[in-house]
Amino acid sequence: VTSADTAPYLLGLRLAGRLVVVVGGGGVALRRVSALLAAGAQVRIVAAEVTPALDDLAARDRVALTRRGYADGDLDGAWLAVAATSDPAVNAEVGADAERRRVWCVRSDDATAATAWVPATGQAGPFTVGVHAGRDPRRAAAARDLAVAALVEQPPPPVREPPPAGRVVGRVVLVGGGPGDPGLLTVRGWDRLREADVVVTDRLAPLPMLDRLPPSVRVVDASKVPGGRAMPQEEINRTLVAHARAGRVVVRLKGGDPFVLGRGMEEVQACLAAGIPVEVVPGVSSALALPGLAGVPVTHRGVAQSFTVVSGHLPPGAPGSTVDWSALARSGGTLVLLMAVTNLPQITGALLAAGMPATTPVASIEESGIQPGRLRRAELGAVPDGALADVRAPAVIVIGAVVGVAPGADLSGDSADGPSAR
Ligand SMILES: C[S@@+](CC[C@H](N)C(=O)[O-])C[C@H]1O[C@@H](n2cnc3c(N)ncnc32)[C@H](O)[C@@H]1O
Repeated sequence: VTSADTAPYLLGLRLAGRLVVVVGGGGVALRRVSALLAAGAQVRIVAAEVTPALDDLAARDRVALTRRGYADGDLDGAWLAVAATSDPAVNAEVGADAERRRVWCVRSDDATAATAWVPATGQAGPFTVGVHAGRDPRRAAAARDLAVAALVEQPPPPVREPPPAGRVVGRVVLVGGGPGDPGLLTVRGWDRLREADVVVTDRLAPLPMLDRLPPSVRVVDASKVPGGRAMPQEEINRTLVAHARAGRVVVRLKGGDPFVLGRGMEEVQACLAAGIPVEVVPGVSSALALPGLAGVPVTHRGVAQSFTVVSGHLPPGAPGSTVDWSALARSGGTLVLLMAVTNLPQITGALLAAGMPATTPVASIEESGIQPGRLRRAELGAVPDGALADVRAPAVIVIGAVVGVAPGADLSGDSADGPSAR
């Protein structure tokens, strides 16, 4: 039977450690790759050009990237193929190779030619819901939403009416996506995402959620990779305004909280200056979530009564730096540093020079995203000499006595591998 109208046979693929080859490096590939990684798949991307977030995943060895066009043999060893290029001829070639090799193939351009379809999926506690609705993905997404809402015993989400003809009703919503784990996106943030026509995303946002949106939702990758590819802020502002002016609901999906070292207010100001209605949905900042996931309390009775979140993107004394590191050294509270991996030796040197005790404990918590983050500890005095030198960004650094309160704290050595964060 070859008819695309035959109901598909629903399976749950257990992809952990199994190779999936994704051909294409644009917004569709980004959605698929993020969801495949969340399912534990080993992902290889074949594409001459990829979006910055995919580039970044490759640089961090989360995916293998073959940076060229598709070639015969690229599906060697694959359990599943995803043809997600913008060129139907290439997708057809991938589909034909997959057919010959008896590898299931998802196609972004032609559902009738694909041998596998990705259902609209959702999670409600222990339930994973998958819905197909013929070839009507919007209907499938709506049915998925109803099923998920029923499972979490909430009323179903409102169905959005199409805008009346001729009236422009565009708006922008800044959604704080939390530190990357989909479970830390807020319910309101997810509600706004489901209303979106366009999602303009950062690389540290909860990317697996993108693949739960209907295929018609346009995903714009506005990642800023430190020292790498970055969409300039002015261009991000222009993109938000242009889509909203065209009548679209635009979600600006940001990592953590939009107003914590995230340039969120600049985006709000740009929208207001253009007369675009804008809403802000706060998010769980990595400044709190990463220590929290790692078991480090930022305050603790009798230990620390305050915490200060500081950007470490500029070294102490650099032109443009407004941080008074000497005052922070005397604050008696916890310091939580973001964007501080590169400048950590100079920053800790300045804190020591201002009189902070060399025995003050320091923790680095590397990216958690959907994986457990790595927690490591050292004493402040050892950090300028190279303790924690191999911490990889993105990471959150916590300095203060609270680090000693975390379970498993062993501060006797200098740089010690701590327990897994979760
Ligand atoms: C430009 S700031 C944005 C902060 C964001 N608005 C927030 O509230 O979390 C980026 C920095 O946040 C921290 N960060 C954000 N997400 C992270 C994650 N998943 N793992 C580790 N650090 C993260 C890192 O210090 C990174 O360099």
